[in-house]
Amino acid sequence: MKILLTGGAGYIGSHTAVALLEAGHDAAVVDNYSNSSPEAVRRAEQITGKEIRLYEADVADKNRMMEILRSEMPDCIIHFAGLKAVGESVAKPVEYYRNNIDTTLTLIECMKELGLSNIVFSSSATVYGEDNIPPFTENMPKGVCTNPYGWTKWMQEQILTDAWFASEKEVISWAKAHDGDAAASDSGRVRPRELSVVLLRYFNPVGAHESGMIGEDPQGIPNNLMPYISQVAVGRRDHLTVFGDDYDTPDGTCRRDYIHVMDLAEGHVKAAEYSLEHRGAEVFNLGTGNPYSVLDMVKAFGDACGHPVKYEIGPRRAGDVQDSWANADKAKEILGWEAKRGIAEICRDAWKWQSGNPNGYDR
Ligand code: NAD
Ligand code: UFG
Repeated sequence: MKILLTGGAGYIGSHTAVALLEAGHDAAVVDNYSNSSPEAVRRAEQITGKEIRLYEADVADKNRMMEILRSEMPDCIIHFAGLKAVGESVAKPVEYYRNNIDTTLTLIECMKELGLSNIVFSSSATVYGEDNIPPFTENMPKGVCTNPYGWTKWMQEQILTDAWFASEKEVISWAKAHDGDAAASDSGRVRPRELSVVLLRYFNPVGAHESGMIGEDPQGIPNNLMPYISQVAVGRRDHLTVFGDDYDTPDGTCRRDYIHVMDLAEGHVKAAEYSLEHRGAEVFNLGTGNPYSVLDMVKAFGDACGHPVKYEIGPRRAGDVQDSWANADKAKEILGWEAKRGIAEICRDAWKWQSGNPNGYDR
């Protein structure tokens, strides 16, 4: 398959490019490097020994995207491009809505004009909100998000689902108008095609490629647990602050479903393949189904790097849910995918990346 990855120079996109190439697919990347470096794509090429076509562009720029998509005509688009920092989204909501929603609308318009029909989208477990009780299943109602970033994911899911629904209706009315004659032309109009939309709800993507050549490279002070722990372990920061130890959990700290980024990447390979064979809008959780606490992760990282990771207990962080983990049965049943790596591999690979690249890609 020919697959185009928007935001493919980023953390999850670059690992997915490796998994796609390793599975025998062809990959092209579009990125504006607002939170990444082309170096990640070059390294993905080195890991696989295969070429990735790379376009520097803003996915919200419709003229440019029409040009790129017309020359690529991919079998499937995986849409990673987006802004993702929860705290920043509270300070800059308009920027987040503009970027995340516009990129999705632009892609749908281009796809329709070019007769492209398959899209896989990076959603988040954050859409389950605060009221559902884990393990989260895909048929639970979406919840209330606690920040603009979460709402952009919530809305993008809705926009893509509505676009699929309309495409199905359009195909039916086209067929009726042409009396079942599939080959009929309609004065040069592109024949409508029913979309295939695959919404992937990620839990907590962490770790790095086993080679240690690509990994997560946050700009500035990391917001997320694993990159913060890694930077403490490598000596870039003094200690981790654990956000609250008074939750109703066995050790008092929050629990999450940490998924190795290469397991997640392999889930995208299955999702892209599935998108080619099925029509409709389908949601899948990509998680392990196993919750671990903040202190579990601190301990596992210490084991991986050979020395304890220094931490202090601080107050709770606003907006954190106590528990979040997946029921991962649907992806196993329908996509034939399940996570294979555990927290020991996650910490081993994160440490290999961090210790080999203490300053990330040196952007
Ligand atoms: P990332 O920031 O590393 O990657 C996103 C990429 O998109 C970056 O390379 C950035 O430069 C690019 N980008 C942003 N806006 C763009 C635009 N308008 N045009 C072109 N490129 C643009 O983030 P990631 O962790 O790899 O996340 C990928 C996707 O998965 C995002 O949509 C994110 O919201 C989603 N997601 C991430 C997590 C997580 O914890 N990492 C969890 C759930 C969902
Ligand atoms: N944590 C700390 N100290 C830190 C950073 C995090 O104790 O310095 C704790 C948090 O309080 C939380 C856990 O570590 O209990 C995980 O926090 P992360 O920030 O790593 O991840 P979140 O679960 O808060 O958020 C992630 C993604 C979001 C996504 C969400 C979906 O960052 O984009 O998962 O559930 F929306």
